[in-house]
Amino acid sequence: MPMQKIIIAIDGYSSCGKSTLAKELGRRLGYHYIDSGAMYRAITLYFLRNSVNYSDPAATIDAIASIHLSFEFNEKEQRSSIHLNDEDVEPFIRDMLVSDKVSEVSAIKEVRAFAVAQQKRMGRRKGIVMDGRDIGTTVFPEAELKIFMTADPEVRVMRRFKEMYATNPHINIEDVRHNLELRDYIDTTREESPLRRADDAILLDNSNLTREEQLELVLGWVAERSAHPHPVNGLSIKN
Ligand code: DC
Repeated sequence: MPMQKIIIAIDGYSSCGKSTLAKELGRRLGYHYIDSGAMYRAITLYFLRNSVNYSDPAATIDAIASIHLSFEFNEKEQRSSIHLNDEDVEPFIRDMLVSDKVSEVSAIKEVRAFAVAQQKRMGRRKGIVMDGRDIGTTVFPEAELKIFMTADPEVRVMRRFKEMYATNPHINIEDVRHNLELRDYIDTTREESPLRRADDAILLDNSNLTREEQLELVLGWVAERSAHPHPVNGLSIKN
């Protein structure tokens, strides 16, 4: 019997390798990969570019009405990238300026409602792997496979540093460490959908796993869960 398509929800702290795993799973399984953090980053970029006073809910609601987000496949790069009002903003959304503000912006109720509604629509046909902070708890509470990723804090700092150093050789490791600590704090303590492990999420600590080991482990979980997919129209089924 061919494997049935499921929803895979990956949550966890910043720089645990969520997107690396999610991308590889997407490729191996022929699933759509959606980086939900890129959506919050693109919204933050819009707010910064347009000097939106996002501490004012009315200004925030107005600004959101002018935002259109989509993921488009980029032939040259062979991956999909996030578009903000039809502009490919992938090159800008990982700047420190955006990273410094994204946790604040993503804690805003109206911002989350806008992003989550769009994310839920993307999962309607299954065959999707989405990574973020609230995917298994809020976006797809009925996902067949939920993974909560974690890794040793210093391993995470080094990973993020290397990633950022590739595009900005002036990056300072202390700034990276401070940014990660602050984001962990805001992401886990905010009122709206704080980062937490769903009760039925599998904990994956990848501090000592190679990418290949991790992928094989997770593909095994996918095979198990694909044997018992939840009905497509049963996304609100409880137990
Ligand atoms: O995964 P990332 O580091 O690119 O995410 C950027 C920020 O967006 C992160 O600090 C928290 C927020 N985020 C969120 O609140 N919910 C998600 N589903 C994804 C990201």
